[in-house]
Amino acid sequence: MKTAAQIIVLDAGGQYCHLIARKVRDLGVYAEVRASETRAADLAGAKGLIISGGPNSVYDPSSPTVDPAIFEGGARVLGICYGQQLMAHLLGGTVQLGEKGEYGLATLELDGRTGALFEGIAGPQQIWMSHRDLVTAVPPGFSVLGGTATCPVAAIEAPARGLYGVQFHPEVVHTSRGREILSNFLFGICGCRRDWDPRHRVPQIEDEIRRCVGDRSVFFFVSGGVDSTVACALCQRALGGDRVQGVYVDTGLMREGETDAMRRMPGLSVESAEPQFLRALSGVRDPERKRHIIGEEFVRVQERIVESRHLLDGHWILGQGTIYPDTIESGGTEKAAVIKTHHNRVPGIQRLMDSGRIVEPLRSYYKDEVREIGRELGLPSEILDRHPFPGPGLAIRCLCSEIEAPVAAAAEGYIVPVHSVGVQGDSRTYAPVLCIEGLDHARATELINRISGVNRVIARVRTAAPLAEMQVRVCSLTPERLASLRQADAIVRRLSHASGFDGRIWQFPVVLIPLGTADAPDSVVLRPIDSVDGMTAQSVAMPGDLLGSISAELLEVRGISGVFYDLTHKPPATIEWE
Ligand code: XMP
Repeated sequence: MKTAAQIIVLDAGGQYCHLIARKVRDLGVYAEVRASETRAADLAGAKGLIISGGPNSVYDPSSPTVDPAIFEGGARVLGICYGQQLMAHLLGGTVQLGEKGEYGLATLELDGRTGALFEGIAGPQQIWMSHRDLVTAVPPGFSVLGGTATCPVAAIEAPARGLYGVQFHPEVVHTSRGREILSNFLFGICGCRRDWDPRHRVPQIEDEIRRCVGDRSVFFFVSGGVDSTVACALCQRALGGDRVQGVYVDTGLMREGETDAMRRMPGLSVESAEPQFLRALSGVRDPERKRHIIGEEFVRVQERIVESRHLLDGHWILGQGTIYPDTIESGGTEKAAVIKTHHNRVPGIQRLMDSGRIVEPLRSYYKDEVREIGRELGLPSEILDRHPFPGPGLAIRCLCSEIEAPVAAAAEGYIVPVHSVGVQGDSRTYAPVLCIEGLDHARATELINRISGVNRVIARVRTAAPLAEMQVRVCSLTPERLASLRQADAIVRRLSHASGFDGRIWQFPVVLIPLGTADAPDSVVLRPIDSVDGMTAQSVAMPGDLLGSISAELLEVRGISGVFYDLTHKPPATIEWE
């Protein structure tokens, strides 16, 4: 029987709305996500409503809103970020554009009377902020519970009406007491009971697979990563091994040694498609085009395989390891901004989905939940604890350039005219990079909040020439550049594994950028990050001796003249560079 949602998260367009629901479930309370404008009458039965963050401004008339009747119904309401602003705006307060943005870590100062939301929490609190608009006057009947140096109204309440708001994000791990704040809302304020345990989900997922697949069989492209492996294992369990076929496509965009490892896996065949992918990508520089081409080529390979194996009779459907962040950040919910087009949401695959020929058993789960499910299935730790690797592979870590341009001196360092993706506000942006001297994360966070027009701050680790003499050159995705990146990635993985550093981080993208000298036109950017589910991430400092040996070996790689270190957290940068 379906569990009734005690908490409903109203999606106001933020990339965080499903993360809120996930955190609520993690506290043992079943939560669902609905469109923000859902009528109050259709939300009856929920004990609490949470209005999510979002990229818009509440004073813009076209922005998402909520049915004002939710504030008069029986449910308690918590507004988070945009949700707090919307609550203030609709109930007679004032919201205005702040003088500067506040992205990343901040300190919340609580006033003496902390109220039910902050029960058991006192003193200065580390919180995670991502906003520019501010509540400047609270509605009648509300009081302010705390603020930061940039945002004086960071937590509000009207307890007699059951209404609460926070400007920061309690759902992200970087808000150190966020879990307790959500727990106070669920249990202290809404009176929820614990009714949810993800370990009990496996039988239900298997039922869903059987219902979706019917009497057909499933064909899987296995990438070698956690998601597709767990998804394939779930299908094999639900349907039996003979109704599930796994194929690994060698796109030529994989890391060193990966294809060979897949060849050794039992029950899996390897389809070689390297020339097809490299031909389609040749001369392409635009990141979104790259993703679309890779997605379309995946579909072509799939169609070719389906045809050659005579699987066109409709008895086969495509299985995928899509997980929640893939769907959220691709606009999978009604309002979520399109931050990045993931390769499995290009039109070709969308057509398969629209015709019902796809099964995605993990599309409601986050990475850590997928690992939990995998452990429940008895899969080994070397598969489950592997760092995530993006579907489009090294292609999106090999940056190209349409222009030839020198680096430009700026007050704080140098502007490198390589465009990388970021999530300022919640919208997708491409902007150049600021390069500074010294691996100073605090300074990088201060700079990224202060300087507009850049998405990232990197530090120069080692370069073969002075930075002022290095240039960005016109270039595309060539086999030679991919080979340099593959070699660089292998060096970084080998040394960080040998030192144990890889066990302390969540992911370690190695990115090739077209910045260099005439002899060696590229540089490598190191991006070790810590995260729980990829939704937010912190750049991690690595031990100096490891960085020394990595950079020395990287400078030996043909074509590479510089090593840099990405100091930017997510937000405002993304984990990947495009
Ligand atoms: P971003 O760059 O959006 O990355 O902060 C979040 C997580 O998603 C991974 N990623 C992808 N995974 N296909 C994938 O399968 C993609 O197109 C893709 N783009 C990003 C990224 O490696 C990180 O773990």
